[in-house]
Amino acid sequence: MFQQLERLIPDSILGLMAKYRADPFKHKVDLGVGVYRDLSGNTPILECVRRAEREVLAAQTTKSYVGAAGREEFNSALEELVLGSAHATRRDRRARTLQTPGGCGALRVGAELIKAAAAGAVVHVSDPTWGNHAPLLGGCGLKLERYPYYDAATHELRFEAMLQRLQTASAGDAVLIHACCHNPTGADLSPAQWQAVADLLQRRGLVPFLDLAYQGFGASLEEDAAAVRMVVERVPEALIAVSFSKNLGLYRERVGGLIVISENAARADAVQSHMLHIARSIYSMPPDHGAAIAAKIFAEPPLRREWIQELDAMRTRIQDMRSLLAKRLQEVTGDDAFDFIRTQHGMFSLLGVSREAVERLREEHHIYMTSDSRMNLAGIMPHNVSYVAEAFAAEAFAAERGI
Ligand SMILES: Cc1ncc(COP(=O)(O)O)c(C=O)c1O
Repeated sequence: MFQQLERLIPDSILGLMAKYRADPFKHKVDLGVGVYRDLSGNTPILECVRRAEREVLAAQTTKSYVGAAGREEFNSALEELVLGSAHATRRDRRARTLQTPGGCGALRVGAELIKAAAAGAVVHVSDPTWGNHAPLLGGCGLKLERYPYYDAATHELRFEAMLQRLQTASAGDAVLIHACCHNPTGADLSPAQWQAVADLLQRRGLVPFLDLAYQGFGASLEEDAAAVRMVVERVPEALIAVSFSKNLGLYRERVGGLIVISENAARADAVQSHMLHIARSIYSMPPDHGAAIAAKIFAEPPLRREWIQELDAMRTRIQDMRSLLAKRLQEVTGDDAFDFIRTQHGMFSLLGVSREAVERLREEHHIYMTSDSRMNLAGIMPHNVSYVAEAFAAEAFAAERGI
């Protein structure tokens, strides 16, 4: 059977991690892997998670099955966190939520649901987008198309081109949009641009598929959900994939959820039965441990307050490093060309240089980034910012000018 299988090329991020680990250089810098890092370079367990976890373990009386939908209290808290307590879709019982294994699980269940409902629908994804979107969404057989989103050379959104392309999408197609902190570009739509996109989705009968993996990393839990809430209010149907990997630091516990909005409560019941059926047919039911911790943090005010403080601290650290790196680059180059790093959102920005420049930064300066020149700003620390800025000035700035 397996004689047919040729060896696949390993995921490039894994190769990058291996190269980084093998590099003996003392001042090497990892801007590659997409996880938050504190000032010591660690990806910490949040204090609120430690406390909630202890209480969860102490109170646990069984490891029996939890069911395909996951924890009810987790799902309803997730819905409230994303949509707010008074959202019309919740009041009208049009929202249904399924706990999933991380945001990836939510994206895949969402894709399978689209496939079950409309096998011929195209999913439109941004160019560029997170590398896992294509395998997760396309892996179930759906056709993907790309809409223009960002120009890495000018560091600007290609908003008019995006609207023009989506204007030609067929009614019933889905449009995947990063809800905040776009990965890999850090460039988000402005509130006015979100309104224009919502107009277009509504007018053309397109179904938004919103990917919310960084709620709280942009501005705050509330502000980062504003676009989702607005869009979902304007359209009859929508999907929202939610991840708590980053904002609760629960990466390996696989905590996420899929919210699906339907036209009315009866439709929503039918859709929910399909969501459950899909989950059963892929992984049966989601892991419980991380969701039990998350549900406790959402439900208990002292834990929730502590979470929001820790989340604020993670966001502020990244924003500080964005400002610091942009400032050092301005000082080193005498040019404002890198100010986009300061104004973009979330963990990532694209430096906007060639693969060759990325390679030189790795081989000569021991600075590790993915080949599209995505940098994880959480890898910047006050002690390495000057080193990185000087290397970027030497390599990236030269490359930007075609040297
Ligand atoms: C844009 C985007 N969507 C979804 C995810 C899903 O993350 P996870 O499955 O780890 O929760 C990520 C994680 O990096 C992401 O960057």
